[in-house]
Amino acid sequence: MARQKTIYSCQQCGFQSPKWLGRCPDCQQWNTLVEEHPVAAVSHPRALPEPGKPLKLSEVTGRAEDRLSCGLDELNRALGGGVVPGSLILVGGDPGIGKSTLLLQACAHLATQGTALYVTAEESARQIKLRADRLDIASDNLYLLAETSLEQIRQRIKELDPDFLVIDSIQTIFTSTLDSAPGSVSQVRECTGQLMLQAKGDGLPTFLVGHVTKDGAIAGPRVLEHMVDTVLYFEGDPGHPFRILRAVKNRYGSTNEIGVFEMREKGLREVSNPSELFLAERPEQSAGSAVVPTLEGSRPILVELQALVSGSSFGTPQRTAIGLDHKRVALLVAILEKKVELSLAGQDIFLNAAGGVRLDEPAVDLAAIAALASSHLNRVINPRLVLFGEVGLTGEVRAISQPELRIREAARLGFTQCVLPRGNLKNLAVPDSIQLIGVKHASEALENIFV
Ligand code: TYD
Ligand code: MG
Repeated sequence: MARQKTIYSCQQCGFQSPKWLGRCPDCQQWNTLVEEHPVAAVSHPRALPEPGKPLKLSEVTGRAEDRLSCGLDELNRALGGGVVPGSLILVGGDPGIGKSTLLLQACAHLATQGTALYVTAEESARQIKLRADRLDIASDNLYLLAETSLEQIRQRIKELDPDFLVIDSIQTIFTSTLDSAPGSVSQVRECTGQLMLQAKGDGLPTFLVGHVTKDGAIAGPRVLEHMVDTVLYFEGDPGHPFRILRAVKNRYGSTNEIGVFEMREKGLREVSNPSELFLAERPEQSAGSAVVPTLEGSRPILVELQALVSGSSFGTPQRTAIGLDHKRVALLVAILEKKVELSLAGQDIFLNAAGGVRLDEPAVDLAAIAALASSHLNRVINPRLVLFGEVGLTGEVRAISQPELRIREAARLGFTQCVLPRGNLKNLAVPDSIQLIGVKHASEALENIFV
């Protein structure tokens, strides 16, 4: 009798080894190898739909206009303009962030253009129905299937022949060709592989929901991200109603595009004008508040940065940054100390990007410095002023990309002054209503911003 083969796979990165190891040699994580029994005899049809014959580029069909709208412009935007037939889209996010809600709302609209099948492997069909009632969704073209077996799901897909498919979630479905537990690396990889072949073969656009682990990766490893066409992350601060849908990988469009939503009692509402929303509660006459036009993909968004600098009562002062990289903030504080000659030693420093957004661009440096200086000096920044620019280690202000877009958005929202890197001043076509102040050094910027 043939001995059953055992392999150990790392649940983090998918590394496989014939023997158990305490630490994965690939991703260096401890205690992540789990025993699995692949059934060697079962071979899967691996042929791609079109036999691999070389084609001229001009012979390949498919146009950009073939995209289908999901009804939610913000979702379409993150996808690069809509759903491409045959694409496999992974939507990741923390539990409870609103992935199921988003996809149910998208399904409701897609169901007006064809049959949509929503496979729920986590919740019962009744739970989905209750949610749909709450969201005022009623459609005869939207089918629900509560099922966890991939073979069953594929059988039902064959019978129903839907035009859109949602699998909620990829970690809870399993294929019986493997005897490892649902959610394990091999299961997730195998199920995704089969769904991918099906998506490409039948041109069936498929959304997969994926949970995110504590350290931020989609659970059931990175391998998943390589297999799918598009990876969207749905993120947000649980304390805020705003949710941001970010494209991290997109074979059909630009990454860095974001969609902004607000979670309401009746589901997700699109926020087509995020700047107004993020600035809505801004205290205009307080020290420590600065507005920065950041760019998310091709979209300028105005965000308020708030700083609080106050004398520390402990030996080691605190440095806390929310929504910004804390290393970057430590660097900016050092620049303020050394190059702008503000004495911040012994001060607790808190910096916060209002509204729960994350700002990773270097263009926010100048605004962070302004907010910190404003709080420390207790002087109010002109409430009609925005500022942006990267700050270098000697305090110099460096040019950044796409200044025009940022300035126009600020002008549109009624800002009248903009402090920007002098290197960005050339050839700008912007409205006359906004005065441009080019600066070369952070201390020069601070001379121009206070009321
Ligand atoms: P859900 O879509 O179930 O999250 P996920 O699938 O990502 O785990 O959303 C759950 C949260 O959304 C829940 O905490 C309640 C909230 N919610 C609303 O605030 N309003 C609504 O209309 C719905 C449907 C959910
Ligand atoms: Mg869910």
